[in-house]
Amino acid sequence: MNLKQKYGQTAMIAGASEGIGAAFATLLAAEGMDLVLIARRLQPLQQLAHLLENKYKINVIYISCDLSAIDAVKEIEGILDGKEISLLVFNAALSVIGPFINNSAEIYSQMVQLNMVTPLNMLHVFGEKMLTKGKGAIVLMTSMAGLQGSGFLSVYAATKAFNRVLAESLWYEWKDSGVDVIACCAGATSTPGFKNTRPEKTGFFTPRVMDPEEVANECFKKLGRQPSFITGRGNRIASFFMQKILPGKVAVNIMGDTTRKMYRL
Ligand SMILES: NC(=O)c1ccc[n+]([C@@H]2O[C@H](COP(=O)([O-])OP(=O)(O)OC[C@H]3O[C@@H](n4cnc5c(N)ncnc54)[C@H](OP(=O)(O)O)[C@@H]3O)[C@@H](O)[C@H]2O)c1
Repeated sequence: MNLKQKYGQTAMIAGASEGIGAAFATLLAAEGMDLVLIARRLQPLQQLAHLLENKYKINVIYISCDLSAIDAVKEIEGILDGKEISLLVFNAALSVIGPFINNSAEIYSQMVQLNMVTPLNMLHVFGEKMLTKGKGAIVLMTSMAGLQGSGFLSVYAATKAFNRVLAESLWYEWKDSGVDVIACCAGATSTPGFKNTRPEKTGFFTPRVMDPEEVANECFKKLGRQPSFITGRGNRIASFFMQKILPGKVAVNIMGDTTRKMYRL
């Protein structure tokens, strides 16, 4: 699918400087789309922007912004000054691993703001413009952790469930209006964020850790075809057992036990 032909000239990636966000940016640049890249740290953003501009002869705007700030979307709207966004990927997220009670309510509020409220505000602003234009695309990055209760990832998993349900609902509402929405439910993916958590391999049957490029590539293949999808065959098989074969209680236990082992809790 030619994304530029189908959706338009400019893609915005929120959480773009590394990992899956950078993979999305690189694929979209290779399609010839201009980019708006957002993250907090300026240096990796600048580096990626220059690399993509030189390699693909596209225009890249980069914005250093903390997307967990309450007025983040207003700030970005102001900087863009009416610039049309044809494709939006909301990728940034905060994840805290460990017993629920060991972390502060403040950090959970920040997580809710970044993982739920900011994407919601972004969808409202840019989704409305896409609907008026009659074309556009939105990708919400979510996680297999959000497919059931996930002990030791409780608040993160709940925010990811929110994103999946939101994307699926809007896929239905907007499917005849030219605006495609998809939730990308990733399993373990080899990104700086994932590696920093120093996970331990939990067993022979654990699905393989995917590369960010595979995730982004698969997502654009599924965009416009379905409301949500799970990345990678191994993850889909695991999820089939967890969601369709095993009783809910067993699935929740497996998820909690796996996280406990993975993070030596
Ligand atoms: N990696 C996995 O195994 C995995 C599995 C399931 C789902 N996911 C989902 O996939 C997405 C990407 O994960 P990832 O592993 O690629 O993450 P990552 O390596 O931690 O990268 C996240 C990107 O978002 C930016 N970011 C983080 N917090 C931000 C904030 N407050 N404001 C603005 N930008 C921010 C980071 O740049 P700065 O630090 O410079 O801001 C970075 O560019 C997330 O939604 C995650 O939940 C990942």
